[in-house]
Amino acid sequence: MTFNIDLNSSYIENKINDLEKLTDEDRPYTRLVFSEKFYEARSWLSEQFNLLGLSITTDEAGNLIGLLKSKKDTNKVVIVGSHIDTVPSGGRYDGTAGVISGLCLIKHIKENNIELPFNLAIYDYLGEELNEWGTSCIGSRGIAGALNEDILSRQNSSGQILKEEINKIGGNAKLLNKPLPVIKNILACLELHIEQGKILEDRKIDIGIVKSIPSISRFKVTVTGQAGHSGTILMNQRADALVTASEIITFVNKLALKISKNSNQHFVSTIGKIDVHPNSAAIIPGLVEMTIDLRATSQNSRQEFINTLEQKISSINENNDCKIKMKDIAFAPFVEMDKELIALFKKSSDSLGFSSNIMNSGAGHDTAQLSRVAPAAMIFIPCKDGLSHCPEEYAEVSDIAKGTEVLYNMIENLANLSLT
Ligand code: GLV
Ligand code: MN
Ligand code: MN
Repeated sequence: MTFNIDLNSSYIENKINDLEKLTDEDRPYTRLVFSEKFYEARSWLSEQFNLLGLSITTDEAGNLIGLLKSKKDTNKVVIVGSHIDTVPSGGRYDGTAGVISGLCLIKHIKENNIELPFNLAIYDYLGEELNEWGTSCIGSRGIAGALNEDILSRQNSSGQILKEEINKIGGNAKLLNKPLPVIKNILACLELHIEQGKILEDRKIDIGIVKSIPSISRFKVTVTGQAGHSGTILMNQRADALVTASEIITFVNKLALKISKNSNQHFVSTIGKIDVHPNSAAIIPGLVEMTIDLRATSQNSRQEFINTLEQKISSINENNDCKIKMKDIAFAPFVEMDKELIALFKKSSDSLGFSSNIMNSGAGHDTAQLSRVAPAAMIFIPCKDGLSHCPEEYAEVSDIAKGTEVLYNMIENLANLSLT
């Protein structure tokens, strides 16, 4: 059944326009997991599922699911989806593009009375973005059994406990100590996402087919000095935590640059979150807390970075009045996408006449978690200037529609495979 790009583009555009309004007003586009706007967006999404006649559930990990049941008596399921939460002051397409593409895919299937030999589920994975609880991909980790009591018991700055928030949204945190039963029935997990980089745009390629997703590590670094009067404590008498923190920030940047230059594999590290206490112009900073974000395709490069940084921290601790502690707070391993699904995505994209590129992801995704327990793969579509995690993030709706057509073709291919 042909997929009309123009017709579907206007559907996609309308839904993007709906969702972009659900943002904290003072800092578009912000829809943090468990926030008021996030709950509003979940209600909006349930309404969309209703309009499509899907049955709606929330699983134990708090993922919102719309299910199109097959007429065949089967438990087998193909999952499409992404996330509707955002980073603070993020964009309108990261995650959203994949969820809306899933809605569009199901609309097309329903309107054309297409019968599938498996159930088709659309997931809004709970809280994909890094949050105040120091973990990303809450819902997809939950499916994979990758949440533990340490993570679930964490509190955010307002004292909210992660497991209680999961329960409030309809999950059941007690059952998250192992992979969810659904994994036995998953035939494929598919995700469409904006690339968040510039490769597709620069090379004028329609579709990126993801080969791998890098490991992601996050470390909390605490630098303890001594707060004091900025007018009276002489320069040689200070233990200024921010000055020592700045040494770490520069060191991390230089070290990551060096390692990435020496390796032809993806390697980046960033310190993008820093809290200075008490954060007052007339007080010497007594305490700094910051988070290191590290993404690596090579396990050796990751280890080299950690060892070298730990040596630097030990040397500062021996020779400096400020003391530094580094704690591992989150880890997601390097994963490869399912090879058969990669080949099938390539076949789909080729058969529709789209150019494609098999490529590595730089960002993390829910599909990385799902690939640990089920066949999973994802596609990228171009985004303007490679910008993402910022309000300027932009993707053409026609590109989202093209990606949705590839997803639809994949579903057809999977249906044919299931029938044979
Ligand atoms: C997900 O958005 C990430 O931080 O890679
Ligand atoms: Mn995303
Ligand atoms: Mn993101």
